[in-house]
Amino acid sequence: MATILGGITTSHIPAIGRAIDEGIEQTPYWKPFFDAYPPVREWLSDKKPDVAIIFYNDHGLEFFIDRKPTFAIGVAEEYFNSDEGWGIKPIPPIHGESEMAWHICNELVDQEFDITICQEMKVDHGLTVPMQLMWPGNQYDHIKVIPVCINVEQHPMPSPKRCYDLGKAIGDAVRSYDKDLNVVVFGTGGMSHQLDGQRAGFINKEFDLYCMDKIVNEPQALTRLSIRDLVEQAGSQGPELIMWLGMRGALNPRLTVKHSNYHVPISNTGAGLLLLE
Ligand code: DHB
Ligand code: FE
Repeated sequence: MATILGGITTSHIPAIGRAIDEGIEQTPYWKPFFDAYPPVREWLSDKKPDVAIIFYNDHGLEFFIDRKPTFAIGVAEEYFNSDEGWGIKPIPPIHGESEMAWHICNELVDQEFDITICQEMKVDHGLTVPMQLMWPGNQYDHIKVIPVCINVEQHPMPSPKRCYDLGKAIGDAVRSYDKDLNVVVFGTGGMSHQLDGQRAGFINKEFDLYCMDKIVNEPQALTRLSIRDLVEQAGSQGPELIMWLGMRGALNPRLTVKHSNYHVPISNTGAGLLLLE
């Protein structure tokens, strides 16, 4: 049967991708941020997962605000990024795990989740920046990806509890898959940030650290928050934190924290990193 080895949370700020492309990871601004990643990379090269299930949000590349699935799952054989308006360098295609993705979709529909199933789908920085961070030099040819895309761009957005429940259903689906594949689950995005409006630049370090603690020790506390609470506490882009709840739902209730880091700010955002086994 398939096994979930652990979960990783990371921010997905586009400027990180640009810093990687420009090779400026060791400059004073970036060093403390990038220096947090080697332990996670080492864990990945040690555990060698076959599949990465990635909870992320699409910022308008594939799903613009004119048509927004609440939950979209990719079942394609391959995924591509393309220019999101800031000249992202082309990266190698990302391989999909089509068969397991279809299994997950079947199970989710059985569990009454009304997902959008995507046989073609462009993936944006929400998914590709974490890939570049985890596998330097874009050395991710060996891993197959299942994108799980959750709407946090257009209200109404799914509640933290709904995303946690989706994660639980995905975890159950993985554990009922009859091939011996090892899976790592990602939650990308967050932490607090607000990119526009009167509170542009808003960051809430205290709330970010509270979320990092709760995601590990008491995720139920976060499921009691509403999207409105997240906007208030973590800024208008703070709802990206629901990706972390999706990841957490897929993991065992009991886990070990292998690595943790919080660095603020990167661009406009509080950047959190967790490795959970
Ligand atoms: C930033 C953060 C994001 O999550 C994003 O999607 C785009 C930009 C930022 O802080 O610059
Ligand atoms: Fe984002």
